[in-house]
Amino acid sequence: MTLLRVRGFDIHKGYLGLDRQVALIEALRPVLKAAPLFSPQLRGGKQMSVRMTSAGQFGWYADETGYRYADAHPSGRHWPAIPEEVLTIWRDLTGLDREPECCLLNYYGEGARMGLHQDKDEADFSYPVVSVSLGDDGLFRIGNQTRGGKTESVWLNSGDVVVMGGEARLTYHGVDRIRFKSSRLLPKGGRINLTLRVVT
Ligand code: SIN
Ligand code: MN
Repeated sequence: MTLLRVRGFDIHKGYLGLDRQVALIEALRPVLKAAPLFSPQLRGGKQMSVRMTSAGQFGWYADETGYRYADAHPSGRHWPAIPEEVLTIWRDLTGLDREPECCLLNYYGEGARMGLHQDKDEADFSYPVVSVSLGDDGLFRIGNQTRGGKTESVWLNSGDVVVMGGEARLTYHGVDRIRFKSSRLLPKGGRINLTLRVVT
């Protein structure tokens, strides 16, 4: 395990061993069953290439009218609870008493990507966002606090955990591409990214 610091992001390389990665996937199975993946519609009618769902009190949601946290899955059912195995990572790395209210699960299939963006739909930016990578490698791009400028890229591998907090809480970031089938964690390939967020 090594800690890389890139533009204020703490990148814990190899934070989760294979046994914990497998346990996380097991714990996420019932979440995906209760709250199936969907592809949000962006403004202008474009579909995101990433499919997503959430666990926790709130789930992140996007449609033609904008981005927001919603208290129910598009099916109308409440989001399932955030698994203990996921909460442990948050507690250990942040040391905070406050728990995340949303665990956004992003699934990147072959060819999926996520454009540079800020995470800014939360009420209080003093809380970090903790991001867990599982499955295929993803090329993570880190920009600046405002749009544009030079960027730096880092490959995130299965088991890496990134803490985006402090000065870097509003830094632009995105995923340019994944190396499809580079990992055998997910039988059908792809990358799962979990982001833990305090919302209110
Ligand atoms: C995100 O910014 O929500 C996802 C980041 C990632 O997939 O690593
Ligand atoms: Mn983000």
